[in-house]
Amino acid sequence: VASNAEGYPVGAWVSGLFGWQDYVVGETKGPMRMQIVPEGVDPKAMLGVFGTTGLTAYFGMLEVGPLKEGDAVLVSGAAGATGSVAGQIARLKGATKVVGIAGGPAKCAWVRDVAGFDACIDYKSESIAGRVRDMFPAGVDLYFDNVGGEALDATLGQLAMNGRVVLCGGISSGYGTGTPPPGPRNYFNLVIMRGRMEGFILLDYIARFAAAREELIGWVRDGKLRYAEDIAEGLENAPATLRGLFEGANLGKQVLKVADAPLGPN
Ligand SMILES: NC(=O)c1ccc[n+]([C@@H]2O[C@H](COP(=O)([O-])OP(=O)(O)OC[C@H]3O[C@@H](n4cnc5c(N)ncnc54)[C@H](OP(=O)(O)O)[C@@H]3O)[C@@H](O)[C@H]2O)c1
Repeated sequence: VASNAEGYPVGAWVSGLFGWQDYVVGETKGPMRMQIVPEGVDPKAMLGVFGTTGLTAYFGMLEVGPLKEGDAVLVSGAAGATGSVAGQIARLKGATKVVGIAGGPAKCAWVRDVAGFDACIDYKSESIAGRVRDMFPAGVDLYFDNVGGEALDATLGQLAMNGRVVLCGGISSGYGTGTPPPGPRNYFNLVIMRGRMEGFILLDYIARFAAAREELIGWVRDGKLRYAEDIAEGLENAPATLRGLFEGANLGKQVLKVADAPLGPN
Protein backbone atom coordinates (compact mmCIF):
# COMPACT_ATOMS: atom_id res chain seq x y z
CA VAL A 1 0.00 0.00 0.00
CA ALA A 2 1.42 3.35 -1.00
CA SER A 3 0.49 6.76 0.30
CA ASN A 4 0.18 9.83 -1.87
CA ALA A 5 0.85 12.08 1.11
CA GLU A 6 4.11 13.97 1.08
CA GLY A 7 6.56 12.84 3.71
CA TYR A 8 5.27 9.27 3.93
CA PRO A 9 7.51 7.23 1.64
CA VAL A 10 6.72 3.64 0.71
CA GLY A 11 8.21 1.27 3.29
CA ALA A 12 8.25 3.79 6.14
CA TRP A 13 6.95 2.71 9.55
CA VAL A 14 4.33 4.98 11.05
CA SER A 15 2.72 5.09 14.48
CA GLY A 16 -0.45 6.69 15.74
CA LEU A 17 -3.62 6.23 17.72
CA PHE A 18 -5.28 3.60 15.51
CA GLY A 19 -7.29 0.48 16.18
CA TRP A 20 -6.19 -3.08 15.55
CA GLN A 21 -6.86 -3.00 11.83
CA ASP A 22 -5.36 -4.01 8.48
CA TYR A 23 -5.69 -0.61 6.83
CA VAL A 24 -6.04 2.88 8.15
CA VAL A 25 -6.71 6.31 6.69
CA GLY A 26 -4.78 8.60 9.00
CA GLU A 27 -4.12 12.29 9.43
CA THR A 28 -0.99 13.58 7.74
CA LYS A 29 -1.12 17.08 9.17
CA GLY A 30 -1.72 18.56 12.59
CA PRO A 31 -0.99 17.19 16.05
CA MET A 32 -2.79 13.85 15.48
CA ARG A 33 -0.84 13.07 12.30
CA MET A 34 0.78 9.69 11.78
CA GLN A 35 4.32 9.79 13.10
CA ILE A 36 7.16 8.45 11.00
CA VAL A 37 9.21 6.16 13.23
CA PRO A 38 12.64 7.82 13.40
CA GLU A 39 15.66 6.06 11.94
CA GLY A 40 17.14 3.52 14.34
CA VAL A 41 14.13 3.49 16.67
CA ASP A 42 12.37 0.18 17.39
CA PRO A 43 8.80 0.74 16.12
CA LYS A 44 7.37 -0.95 19.25
CA ALA A 45 8.98 1.72 21.40
CA MET A 46 6.72 4.30 19.74
CA LEU A 47 3.85 2.69 21.66
CA GLY A 48 5.58 2.94 25.02
CA VAL A 49 8.66 4.85 26.06
CA PHE A 50 8.43 7.20 23.02
CA GLY A 51 4.63 7.11 22.94
CA THR A 52 1.73 7.65 25.32
CA THR A 53 3.24 6.26 28.50
CA GLY A 54 6.72 7.77 28.12
CA LEU A 55 5.25 11.17 27.24
CA THR A 56 2.84 10.95 30.17
CA ALA A 57 5.77 10.33 32.50
CA TYR A 58 7.69 13.21 30.92
CA PHE A 59 5.00 15.89 31.15
CA GLY A 60 3.59 14.65 34.44
CA MET A 61 6.97 14.79 36.11
CA LEU A 62 8.47 17.89 34.52
CA GLU A 63 5.44 20.11 33.84
CA VAL A 64 2.73 19.13 36.29
CA GLY A 65 5.05 18.26 39.20
CA PRO A 66 7.05 20.13 38.39
CA LEU A 67 10.16 18.33 39.58
CA LYS A 68 12.67 20.58 41.33
CA GLU A 69 16.33 19.81 41.79
CA GLY A 70 16.93 18.15 45.15
CA ASP A 71 13.40 16.70 45.42
CA ALA A 72 12.78 13.42 47.25
CA VAL A 73 10.43 11.61 44.86
CA LEU A 74 8.03 8.69 45.25
CA VAL A 75 6.35 6.93 42.29
CA SER A 76 3.58 4.32 42.39
CA GLY A 77 3.08 1.81 39.59
CA ALA A 78 6.87 1.95 39.45
CA ALA A 79 7.36 -1.25 37.45
CA GLY A 80 4.77 -0.14 34.93
CA ALA A 81 5.24 1.65 31.64
CA THR A 82 4.54 5.14 32.96
CA GLY A 83 5.90 4.90 36.50
CA SER A 84 9.23 3.34 35.57
CA VAL A 85 9.96 6.14 33.12
CA ALA A 86 8.67 8.86 35.49
CA GLY A 87 11.09 7.83 38.24
CA GLN A 88 14.06 7.72 35.90
CA ILE A 89 13.23 11.15 34.49
CA ALA A 90 13.13 12.49 38.04
CA ARG A 91 16.63 11.12 38.63
CA LEU A 92 17.91 12.52 35.31
CA LYS A 93 16.55 15.97 36.18
CA GLY A 94 18.04 16.25 39.65
CA ALA A 95 15.98 14.37 42.24
CA THR A 96 18.16 13.35 45.17
CA LYS A 97 16.07 10.33 46.07
CA VAL A 98 13.72 8.22 43.95
CA VAL A 99 11.66 5.44 45.51
CA GLY A 100 9.09 3.25 43.75
CA ILE A 101 6.04 1.29 44.88
CA ALA A 102 5.33 -1.97 43.02
CA GLY A 103 3.74 -5.36 43.56
CA GLY A 104 6.03 -8.30 44.34
CA PRO A 105 9.74 -9.02 44.75
CA ALA A 106 10.50 -9.57 41.06
CA LYS A 107 9.05 -6.20 40.04
CA CYS A 108 10.77 -4.44 42.95
CA ALA A 109 14.11 -5.99 41.97
CA TRP A 110 13.66 -4.68 38.41
CA VAL A 111 12.73 -1.20 39.68
CA ARG A 112 15.92 -1.08 41.78
CA ASP A 113 18.41 -2.99 39.67
CA VAL A 114 17.42 -2.10 36.12
CA ALA A 115 15.49 1.17 36.37
CA GLY A 116 17.95 2.38 39.03
CA PHE A 117 15.52 3.63 41.69
CA ASP A 118 17.12 3.92 45.14
CA ALA A 119 14.56 1.61 46.70
CA CYS A 120 11.21 -0.04 46.06
CA ILE A 121 8.31 -0.68 48.43
CA ASP A 122 6.54 -3.98 47.78
CA TYR A 123 2.98 -2.98 48.63
CA LYS A 124 1.84 -6.59 48.51
CA SER A 125 4.00 -7.59 51.49
CA GLU A 126 4.94 -4.32 53.23
CA SER A 127 3.08 -1.49 54.93
CA ILE A 128 3.19 1.43 52.51
CA ALA A 129 2.67 4.01 55.27
CA GLY A 130 5.40 2.53 57.47
CA ARG A 131 7.94 2.25 54.68
CA VAL A 132 7.21 5.74 53.33
CA ARG A 133 7.77 7.15 56.84
CA ASP A 134 11.09 5.26 57.15
CA MET A 135 12.36 6.24 53.73
CA PHE A 136 11.22 9.86 53.75
CA PRO A 137 11.90 11.13 57.27
CA ALA A 138 11.77 14.72 55.96
CA GLY A 139 8.70 13.97 53.85
CA VAL A 140 7.91 13.35 50.18
CA ASP A 141 8.52 16.42 48.01
CA LEU A 142 6.90 14.99 44.89
CA TYR A 143 4.61 11.99 44.56
CA PHE A 144 3.76 10.73 41.05
CA ASP A 145 0.62 8.67 41.52
CA ASN A 146 -0.58 6.02 39.10
CA VAL A 147 -2.75 4.05 41.48
CA GLY A 148 -4.67 6.16 44.04
CA GLY A 149 -6.17 4.30 47.00
CA GLU A 150 -3.95 3.28 49.91
CA ALA A 151 -0.67 4.48 48.35
CA LEU A 152 -2.06 7.96 47.80
CA ASP A 153 -3.46 8.17 51.31
CA ALA A 154 -0.24 6.94 52.93
CA THR A 155 1.83 9.46 50.98
CA LEU A 156 -0.44 12.38 51.78
CA GLY A 157 0.23 11.57 55.42
CA GLN A 158 3.98 11.99 54.89
CA LEU A 159 4.05 14.98 52.55
CA ALA A 160 6.94 17.43 52.93
CA MET A 161 6.34 21.17 53.29
CA ASN A 162 5.10 22.41 49.90
CA GLY A 163 4.91 18.81 48.75
CA ARG A 164 3.26 18.10 45.39
CA VAL A 165 1.15 15.19 44.21
CA VAL A 166 0.81 14.50 40.47
CA LEU A 167 -2.40 12.59 39.80
CA CYS A 168 -1.63 10.54 36.71
CA GLY A 169 -3.82 7.48 37.21
CA GLY A 170 -6.01 5.67 39.71
CA ILE A 171 -5.68 2.06 38.62
CA SER A 172 -6.38 0.64 42.10
CA SER A 173 -9.95 1.93 41.69
CA GLY A 174 -10.31 -0.48 38.76
CA TYR A 175 -11.88 2.39 36.81
CA GLY A 176 -15.13 0.55 37.49
CA THR A 177 -18.66 1.85 37.44
CA GLY A 178 -19.45 0.79 41.02
CA THR A 179 -19.38 2.99 44.10
CA PRO A 180 -15.97 4.66 44.29
CA PRO A 181 -13.91 4.07 47.45
CA PRO A 182 -13.98 6.81 50.14
CA GLY A 183 -11.61 9.73 49.61
CA PRO A 184 -8.16 9.88 51.17
CA ARG A 185 -8.29 10.33 54.95
CA ASN A 186 -5.02 12.25 55.01
CA TYR A 187 -6.08 14.94 52.55
CA PHE A 188 -6.03 17.61 55.26
CA ASN A 189 -2.25 17.29 55.42
CA LEU A 190 -2.26 19.23 52.14
CA VAL A 191 -3.47 22.18 54.19
CA ILE A 192 -0.97 21.75 57.00
CA MET A 193 1.95 21.26 54.61
CA ARG A 194 0.82 23.90 52.08
CA GLY A 195 0.76 21.10 49.52
CA ARG A 196 -0.71 20.80 46.05
CA MET A 197 -2.40 17.91 44.24
CA GLU A 198 -3.03 18.22 40.50
CA GLY A 199 -4.33 15.97 37.80
CA PHE A 200 -3.55 16.18 34.10
CA ILE A 201 -4.38 14.63 30.75
CA LEU A 202 -1.48 14.01 28.39
CA LEU A 203 -3.30 15.32 25.31
CA ASP A 204 -3.04 18.86 26.67
CA TYR A 205 0.67 18.72 25.81
CA ILE A 206 0.25 17.44 22.27
CA ALA A 207 1.94 20.44 20.66
CA ARG A 208 5.12 19.59 22.54
CA PHE A 209 5.24 15.83 21.90
CA ALA A 210 7.92 15.99 19.21
CA ALA A 211 10.46 17.84 21.35
CA ALA A 212 9.80 15.62 24.36
CA ARG A 213 10.11 12.49 22.23
CA GLU A 214 13.49 13.67 20.98
CA GLU A 215 14.75 14.06 24.53
CA LEU A 216 13.44 10.60 25.46
CA ILE A 217 15.08 9.05 22.39
CA GLY A 218 18.39 10.70 23.34
CA TRP A 219 18.25 9.32 26.89
CA VAL A 220 17.54 5.79 25.67
CA ARG A 221 20.28 6.02 23.02
CA ASP A 222 22.78 7.18 25.68
CA GLY A 223 21.82 4.34 28.02
CA LYS A 224 20.37 6.74 30.62
CA LEU A 225 16.79 5.54 30.39
CA ARG A 226 15.79 1.87 30.59
CA TYR A 227 12.43 0.41 29.72
CA ALA A 228 10.72 -2.96 29.63
CA GLU A 229 8.12 -4.30 27.24
CA ASP A 230 5.73 -7.11 27.97
CA ILE A 231 4.56 -8.62 24.69
CA ALA A 232 1.40 -10.71 24.47
CA GLU A 233 0.36 -12.31 21.19
CA GLY A 234 -2.88 -12.75 19.29
CA LEU A 235 -5.92 -10.55 18.83
CA GLU A 236 -8.01 -13.21 20.59
CA ASN A 237 -5.99 -12.45 23.75
CA ALA A 238 -6.84 -8.73 23.73
CA PRO A 239 -9.47 -8.83 26.53
CA ALA A 240 -7.29 -10.93 28.86
CA THR A 241 -4.26 -8.76 28.13
CA LEU A 242 -6.18 -5.61 28.97
CA ARG A 243 -7.47 -7.19 32.18
CA GLY A 244 -3.88 -8.14 33.06
CA LEU A 245 -3.06 -4.45 33.61
CA PHE A 246 -5.47 -4.47 36.55
CA GLU A 247 -3.96 -7.68 37.90
CA GLY A 248 -0.34 -6.57 37.73
CA ALA A 249 0.44 -9.19 35.10
CA ASN A 250 2.73 -6.88 33.12
CA LEU A 251 6.24 -5.61 33.70
CA GLY A 252 6.76 -2.42 31.71
CA LYS A 253 4.73 -1.50 28.66
CA GLN A 254 2.02 -4.00 27.75
CA VAL A 255 2.06 -4.56 24.01
CA LEU A 256 -0.19 -6.91 22.05
CA LYS A 257 1.26 -8.32 18.82
CA VAL A 258 -1.50 -9.01 16.32
CA ALA A 259 0.57 -9.84 13.22
CA ASP A 260 4.11 -10.38 12.05
CA ALA A 261 5.88 -7.22 11.00
CA PRO A 262 6.15 -6.65 7.27
CA LEU A 263 9.54 -5.82 5.82
CA GLY A 264 10.48 -2.22 6.41
CA PRO A 265 13.46 0.06 6.82
CA ASN A 266 13.78 -0.48 10.61
N1 LIG B 1 -3.18 11.19 32.89
C1 LIG B 1 -2.93 10.71 31.69
O1 LIG B 1 -2.96 11.42 30.69
C2 LIG B 1 -2.53 9.27 31.56
C3 LIG B 1 -1.97 8.78 30.35
C4 LIG B 1 -1.59 7.44 30.29
C5 LIG B 1 -1.79 6.60 31.39
N2 LIG B 1 -2.36 7.11 32.53
C6 LIG B 1 -2.58 6.25 33.71
O2 LIG B 1 -1.31 5.88 34.21
C7 LIG B 1 -1.44 4.65 34.92
C8 LIG B 1 -0.37 3.67 34.46
O3 LIG B 1 -0.66 3.28 33.13
P1 LIG B 1 0.31 2.30 32.34
O4 LIG B 1 -0.25 2.16 30.99
O5 LIG B 1 1.72 2.75 32.51
O6 LIG B 1 0.08 0.92 33.08
P2 LIG B 1 1.15 0.06 33.86
O7 LIG B 1 1.61 0.84 35.05
O8 LIG B 1 2.17 -0.46 32.89
O9 LIG B 1 0.28 -1.21 34.33
C9 LIG B 1 -0.63 -1.09 35.35
C10 LIG B 1 0.03 -1.51 36.69
O10 LIG B 1 -0.80 -1.05 37.75
C11 LIG B 1 -0.56 -1.82 38.88
N3 LIG B 1 -1.83 -2.12 39.57
C12 LIG B 1 -2.89 -2.80 39.09
N4 LIG B 1 -3.84 -2.89 40.03
C13 LIG B 1 -3.37 -2.25 41.13
C14 LIG B 1 -3.90 -2.00 42.42
N5 LIG B 1 -5.12 -2.43 42.77
N6 LIG B 1 -3.14 -1.30 43.30
C15 LIG B 1 -1.91 -0.86 42.96
N7 LIG B 1 -1.35 -1.07 41.73
C16 LIG B 1 -2.08 -1.75 40.84
C17 LIG B 1 0.07 -3.14 38.40
O11 LIG B 1 1.42 -3.14 38.88
P3 LIG B 1 1.78 -3.88 40.27
O12 LIG B 1 2.04 -5.31 39.92
O13 LIG B 1 2.95 -3.13 40.73
O14 LIG B 1 0.56 -3.76 41.12
C18 LIG B 1 0.04 -3.01 36.89
O15 LIG B 1 1.15 -3.62 36.27
C19 LIG B 1 -2.86 4.14 34.67
O16 LIG B 1 -3.64 4.46 35.81
C20 LIG B 1 -3.29 4.94 33.46
O17 LIG B 1 -4.69 5.10 33.43
C21 LIG B 1 -2.72 8.41 32.63
